[in-house]
Amino acid sequence: MWCNRLYLTREEEAMYNGEYGEATALAMKIIVKVGEVMGAEKLVKVKHVHVSGVSYYNIREPGLLFLKKIVEEGAIARTYTTVNPSSIDLCGCSGLFSRELVNGQYMINRVLEKMGVKPVYTCVPYLVRTPSPGEHLAWGESNAIAMANSFYGAFTNREGGPLTIASAITGRTYYSGLHLIDNRVVEAIITPPKIVDEALASLLGLYIGEYIDVKPMIVDAWKWSFLSIKEFLASTAASGSHALVVLDKITPPNTYRVSSSLEKISIDEKELRLYKERVSEAIDFKGYVLAYIGCPHTSYLELKELIDYILSHKRVRDNVDLLITIPLHYTSLLSDEIKYLVDKGVRVAGGVCPIVSLLNKKPDLVITNSGKALFYLRKLHGFRVAIASAKDIVREVMLN
Ligand code: F3S
Repeated sequence: MWCNRLYLTREEEAMYNGEYGEATALAMKIIVKVGEVMGAEKLVKVKHVHVSGVSYYNIREPGLLFLKKIVEEGAIARTYTTVNPSSIDLCGCSGLFSRELVNGQYMINRVLEKMGVKPVYTCVPYLVRTPSPGEHLAWGESNAIAMANSFYGAFTNREGGPLTIASAITGRTYYSGLHLIDNRVVEAIITPPKIVDEALASLLGLYIGEYIDVKPMIVDAWKWSFLSIKEFLASTAASGSHALVVLDKITPPNTYRVSSSLEKISIDEKELRLYKERVSEAIDFKGYVLAYIGCPHTSYLELKELIDYILSHKRVRDNVDLLITIPLHYTSLLSDEIKYLVDKGVRVAGGVCPIVSLLNKKPDLVITNSGKALFYLRKLHGFRVAIASAKDIVREVMLN
């Protein structure tokens, strides 16, 4: 069947016409409408949907009512579906988050889980299920999208929350944008300065997002750690809208093309140092300080390394909270290690994003290793934010 200029298979047509129920018909109509606007000629099946926009802090009662309504009308996830962090600490042991959002968030979580999403509540879905090169996804959450396209070579557009819900219900997305190899053509090559840690990678990402509009581009990141790549991509996606940055010798071949006329852009250490002076506060301990690691959520290996490093220190300084946010399932996987951290005064929170939540106490300064956290904590909450690597943060905020 043709829907204007968009072709639907028999199964998609049946979904569209309500044979799979009201909720599926609505979801299919949303995808078709967006597909028409985006110039898609057909839909494509997706292997993994990642739903964003599930924080009660952001979507409040209207969002909750929408979710409740579609689930009452029979919405279920027809494909593998994970979900972004919530607005509350789901392991409940950090004590840093306001209880004001608890009821609303639990209702959202209940509805999503009734729909059949995997209750991972994390912004690193690629660490829950590894995407394959060339496979089609429908992901929300800008950092995860940038990782899926750039590191794993999967194909996803940058989707909004409601559209990811529609894709979960139908198992489809519109076939346009970054799903087409013709739209994954590198136009510029960036020569970066030497990147020694994830704080510098974050700053480079913020700088590129802010000043370089060419998309996609290729960057030499061959010698960077996984953490640096993760923070870099999250930052480019935050300050700019980059969803694909080809990483030289890392992004799988055949998932992008290179233009015959490449623009050459070089960024040196001095530029990055001046940029840091502009966007990052100096570290001081004059008031209450929140040290924050875990945006995007820490990986298992990062966490293990961090735990070893923290345990070589005595305890967190007075008037400082050291917060680490992790995927929810790590809270049981690493329960013993987390107890050791808690004994040192570290606050560990599972399945939550502090950027889309409410803290009990407003910090006078946040220190983070994440460019994305720096960008949004300043922009959305008006906090003063300094950037440093996770190791430097621990060294600064813990006593020996
Ligand atoms: Fe994750 Fe929140 Fe950062 S969703 S990437 S911790 S802004």
